[in-house]
Amino acid sequence: MVEFTLPKNSRVTQGTRWPAPPHAHNLREYRVYRWNPDDTQNPRIDTYHVDLDDCGPMVLDALIWIKNKVDPTLTFRRSCREGVCGSCAMNIDGTNTLACTKDMKDIKGAVAIYPLPHMPVVKDLVPDLTQFYAQQASIKPWLQTESVTPEKEWKQSHEDRLKLDGLYECILCACCSTSCPSYWWNSDRYLGPAVLLQAYRWIIDSRDEAAGERLDDLEDPFRLYRCHTIMNCAKACPKGLNPALAISEIKKLMVERKA
Ligand code: SF4
Ligand code: SF4
Ligand code: FES
Repeated sequence: MVEFTLPKNSRVTQGTRWPAPPHAHNLREYRVYRWNPDDTQNPRIDTYHVDLDDCGPMVLDALIWIKNKVDPTLTFRRSCREGVCGSCAMNIDGTNTLACTKDMKDIKGAVAIYPLPHMPVVKDLVPDLTQFYAQQASIKPWLQTESVTPEKEWKQSHEDRLKLDGLYECILCACCSTSCPSYWWNSDRYLGPAVLLQAYRWIIDSRDEAAGERLDDLEDPFRLYRCHTIMNCAKACPKGLNPALAISEIKKLMVERKA
């Protein structure tokens, strides 16, 4: 049943305003979403002042600075610090993106940071991606073959390899899926842009021999056809990829095989 009022503990409250570091002259205000599953408090927004003369240029540098110098309880994911692992995806200044490649110079005023939207929160800026990864596993993201395995490697022509450009670069950060309204409302059944882009990556791989089964698996009113070409996904992708295009290519293949 549709719930028209928000649960009581979902209201975000004003949190702690941490003091600015003394003697710092070049400060930037950060307003960061905080929520701790181990207490009974509502989520809150904490305010910090980052000393830019003591900190790197990216939003992730500021979060690490806050964690090291002000508040060690601030929780977020990160690993590579160079836009490769996808773990630092969060909502920064109203847009889903990677904290490690987002230059704070590109943001005006105070920097507002929330976890990726419409996902359960594990703690602070850490979303629960369990379902997202289960959906990724469901498309069998590996090479499926029936032919005899070659002694050395599965070969691919240069032209066929080029077909993977714009797809293989996906780092599964989930920025696109969590910006997609169709995924917000049907994430239990719609696979969402990231996973569909990955599915297309395997469907058009010339070495893969399971394209038919892969398409059968997507032939469903929810798994594929909840995409309404709203294009938020392409706008959000920090790697410049276009999941909406991949989805439309899958739909085209569906039509072609019926013709
Ligand atoms: S184009 Fe499709 S997948 Fe992308 S945001 Fe819109 S509905 Fe979602
Ligand atoms: S398509 Fe882009 S935004 Fe979506 S998961 Fe892949 S890298 Fe992230
Ligand atoms: S830390 Fe790996 S993408 Fe940001």
